[in-house]
Amino acid sequence: MKAQGAGMGGSTIRPDMPIEGEAGMDPGATPPDPPSVTTDDRLMPTSAPTPSAPSAPRAASGSREPYAVVGRSRNEGHGKRLTAAFEALEVFPALAESRNRLLALISEERPSTGEVVRAIESDVALVISVLRLANGMDSPRRGQVESIVGSVEVLSPEAVQRLAANAETFEFFERGKTWDAAPERFRLHAVAVQRAADRLAAASGYPHRDRLLVTALLHDVGKLVLMHAYPGYPRQVHGPARTPEERLHYERRELGVDHALVGGVLARRWNLPKAVASAIERHHAEDAQGDSAFVRLADMLAHYSQGSPVSSTELLKAARAVGFGPSELRAVLYDLPYPSKDRPRSVEPCPLSTRELEVLKRLAQGMVYKQIALELSLSTSTVRTHLHNIYGKLGAVDRAQAVLHATERGWL
Ligand SMILES: [Fe+2]
Ligand SMILES: [Fe+2]
Repeated sequence: MKAQGAGMGGSTIRPDMPIEGEAGMDPGATPPDPPSVTTDDRLMPTSAPTPSAPSAPRAASGSREPYAVVGRSRNEGHGKRLTAAFEALEVFPALAESRNRLLALISEERPSTGEVVRAIESDVALVISVLRLANGMDSPRRGQVESIVGSVEVLSPEAVQRLAANAETFEFFERGKTWDAAPERFRLHAVAVQRAADRLAAASGYPHRDRLLVTALLHDVGKLVLMHAYPGYPRQVHGPARTPEERLHYERRELGVDHALVGGVLARRWNLPKAVASAIERHHAEDAQGDSAFVRLADMLAHYSQGSPVSSTELLKAARAVGFGPSELRAVLYDLPYPSKDRPRSVEPCPLSTRELEVLKRLAQGMVYKQIALELSLSTSTVRTHLHNIYGKLGAVDRAQAVLHATERGWL
């Protein structure tokens, strides 16, 4: 077996270590990321291991099980295993608490859209089911719904209720036969990455928040496939790997595919929009952009905050991809252990016109009528009329209430 971390180079950091400079990963050590894929064909292994390649991490017994099939002929049975695993994910369970909260909300007389969205977004299986239904054959926006906010707009409350009522569930303290403890572990990491991604998006003003909350939650869905296809995954495949990049390297070498690629293929099988599938597929790519760049950095931050090592070089590279330099990254790392503020979501349509919003924003900044009028090239009486209309539309009695109301709903 190869020495720990050998061949992968790179400095790693733990939460008790400072961020270091650029020293670290040997750029030649990690295999290049595969190009984008559009079909399941790419799931077939690309090449056999070279004779000089270091031996794979194996079980302590020295047996090649459970990868005998992979070791003997990396093509043989590989596709079948993955297809069976894709099918097994059809009954991936939702957290019972999330499902029950969703059912309780939906049965209310006037369910709050924001609360319903939040309940769905708290669970991987619910997100998958709702997105698949919203993008399915019968949907008017087939293959185009990128978020849970969008899904709830497309689906009727009855459809969401049916879906939740029929969902398989798992409990915190129970182990299922098929998935054992996987749903619980998977959810914890997915939610940690989702929260970190949301913080990063807020700090940088990233506009695709609703989609990012979905891509962050689903980013590692390919791991569930590999877990089902290869008993012993991840431990026996990842072996001595320490960082996310090293784990990906071992997956490619041992299985011929990695969980990011498999996850992207699965998202396409589910008919999820291209932006979602490609963010999942590229969430470990060095040249990741947009959602995948945020998810890549959020993933590293989630591992870091759970005490796992991450490469300082890769962390800085990932930060730069979302426009963060070392000082912004330090601020994020400092802030990580503290609970994040619950940012309001704009899930209900804003009743105000663009001009009315401009007026209200300035009011929220403490400007007086005259200043607002001057800045927007309006007369004072027009500003007064706009405010009158704003109060009426928001049901507010004064400026403080109007600002509070609009802020709570994420319109400001
Ligand atoms: Fe991943
Ligand atoms: Fe991850």
